Amino acid sequence: MRDSFKGLHFGTDYYPEHWPRERWETDASLMKEMGIQVVRLGEFSWHKMEPREGKYDFGWLDEAIALLGRYDIQVILGTPTAAPPAWLVNRHPEILPIDSQGRRRGFGGRHHDCQSNPLYRKYVKNLVTAMAVHFSENPIVKGWQIDNEFGNAHGDLCMCDSCRKSFQEWLQKKYGSVECFNAAWGTAFWSQEYNSFEEVFTPRITVTGENPSAMLDWKCFCSDLIVDFQQIQIDIIRRYCPEHFITHNCMGFADKVNYYDLSKTLDFASHDQYPGGFYGKMPFENNELMAANLDMTRSFKKQPFWIMEQQAGMTGWNIMGRTPAPGQLSAWAEQCVAHGADCVVFFRWRSCTVGTEQYWHGILPHSGRPGRRYAELKEMTKRLSPIMDELSGSMPDSRVGIVFSYRQEYAFSIQPHHPDLNYVNQVLMYYGELYKRSIPVDFVQDTDDFSNYRLVIAPLQYLMTKELADKYFAYAEAGGTLVLTMRTGVKDEHNICMCDRELPGVLSDLCGIEVSDYDCLRDADVRVTWEEDRESGVYYATKWSDIITLKGAEALACYRDEFYAGTPCVTENAYGMGRVFYIGTEPSEKLLEAVMDRAAVSAGIRSIGRKDPGVELSRRKKDGKVWIFALNLTGRPAGYEIGEQQKWKLALGGQKGMLQPFELHIYQGEEGE
Ligand code: GAL
Ligand code: ZN
Repeated sequence: MRDSFKGLHFGTDYYPEHWPRERWETDASLMKEMGIQVVRLGEFSWHKMEPREGKYDFGWLDEAIALLGRYDIQVILGTPTAAPPAWLVNRHPEILPIDSQGRRRGFGGRHHDCQSNPLYRKYVKNLVTAMAVHFSENPIVKGWQIDNEFGNAHGDLCMCDSCRKSFQEWLQKKYGSVECFNAAWGTAFWSQEYNSFEEVFTPRITVTGENPSAMLDWKCFCSDLIVDFQQIQIDIIRRYCPEHFITHNCMGFADKVNYYDLSKTLDFASHDQYPGGFYGKMPFENNELMAANLDMTRSFKKQPFWIMEQQAGMTGWNIMGRTPAPGQLSAWAEQCVAHGADCVVFFRWRSCTVGTEQYWHGILPHSGRPGRRYAELKEMTKRLSPIMDELSGSMPDSRVGIVFSYRQEYAFSIQPHHPDLNYVNQVLMYYGELYKRSIPVDFVQDTDDFSNYRLVIAPLQYLMTKELADKYFAYAEAGGTLVLTMRTGVKDEHNICMCDRELPGVLSDLCGIEVSDYDCLRDADVRVTWEEDRESGVYYATKWSDIITLKGAEALACYRDEFYAGTPCVTENAYGMGRVFYIGTEPSEKLLEAVMDRAAVSAGIRSIGRKDPGVELSRRKKDGKVWIFALNLTGRPAGYEIGEQQKWKLALGGQKGMLQPFELHIYQGEEGE
């Protein structure tokens, strides 16, 4: 078992190549003093490592690594394949990606590469081999990050001839015969039949419209291409550096690559966490989304994970975000630990004076003098270090699984139905309901084993296969509580509408309903009556109404408006030893609360405790030991109460139940307490 990552808990992303050598030692000593144990290096410095074709120069890196080593700091090396150098692009402009409008993108940013291009892959293999051979025996190097944030900036690139050929081969492998392929894509529509796989195009911009089946395969192909591009590098590093760990820095719910697939051959998954958002597009205090990112990353391998980039200051490229308040940066880092991070690496060590990211602030400001951020994070590493070794490897032991499927996400991004309907947001809406109740959640793949979960929530199960349907039947049969929603069972795996039954198709029998008609709520919400609270008038159906006929289920809520007033909107069905809820709309907050109250009771799910808004309660468990975290993510004092609070030992923090702004409490106990 590779365990070169053990014992590393705090780190920073460092770019020695941006600073004069005379400065390096000051940096290393400041890092050491701050509690930094590990540094990521090199993930964009291709030119520094190979300034001319085949002429490798690792001398500067050796020097930086040795210096860090003298301060007892270990190193992760990034393969710099997200930034091919100018000499390479000039020599082989065909490695630049082609966008959907057929334009070749230029040099000058990053990710300007076509990942299928055989020539580009050759250069990548040569460089990664040279790196792996050179660093395999260096005792300070403990692990690797492959490339950087796969899928970031790749959009749906690349549409070049090389990618076209790879796509054709991928299709041929998947479908075998052109006949099967034509049927799967429904090419009879608009005369899109192909006589051979060689006739298939990459989906460049059309005059009008797209084939949803083609687009789904294209998105899956792009994901597989990235996984393959990563694997080439992994194979090389495994061969020369068998003791080193390998990871990749993922981006939460970004969807260009299926992270479950991407993480399979990694030692652990990593995530880049920026609560301050990018270009200020996200709200500043987005605790719930940040928590979901972390739970998602943990779910990729069902394992603790690393944060490879944790916000260390104000974010911004040309436009900037708010500056984190005193205490906020450490609270954000602690949130990661509370959700299963074993190591937090801060991005970046020092604010850069050159290039695109001059305003993406580091732990140190431009001046390089330790300021308030340094002092704050230093205090945090000192406070948490004693507990991090013990915590390492522990997991939250969730009893609720939310199904997340990249294929469903792709299908909805191709046909969102309603202009504001978004698969990820829909999943996050259900997540939010559990988050606010302090109920730990895993995100599960639809191919995962559900038997550990008492409650499985599977929003928008739009593409349906026999295997998946069987799985849901079996889960309920065995006593699980299952929540299904609108637009379930609509299409087959090829993104083609099924027509053998009314919706939700084969799942009708499981839900005890039939959706006989539906309505896309473009301009108005529809009022709903929650049967147990008939008078209140605070429940709404939004974006979509499934018009439901009961076939054995019970109606929990009915529409109050439109021609379908009085027909069911939310239903509950007993199936086998379990219960199946069906929500035929995007429920308003109160409606969702009402359904989830009922589902949680039916599943016997217990919350960790009660808390004020902005406080997070979470837990990790290992070998019979339990840690409960109470974290105040706000700048105001706030309270909480965990079950049987007096019994628990407070391992970190002040007064039980009362949190100062951005304060963290950690309780420790034995399982069963
Ligand atoms: C991340 C990326 C880093 C840096 C940072 C700030 O997405 O991995 O390399 O670019 O954002 O923009
Ligand atoms: Zn390409």
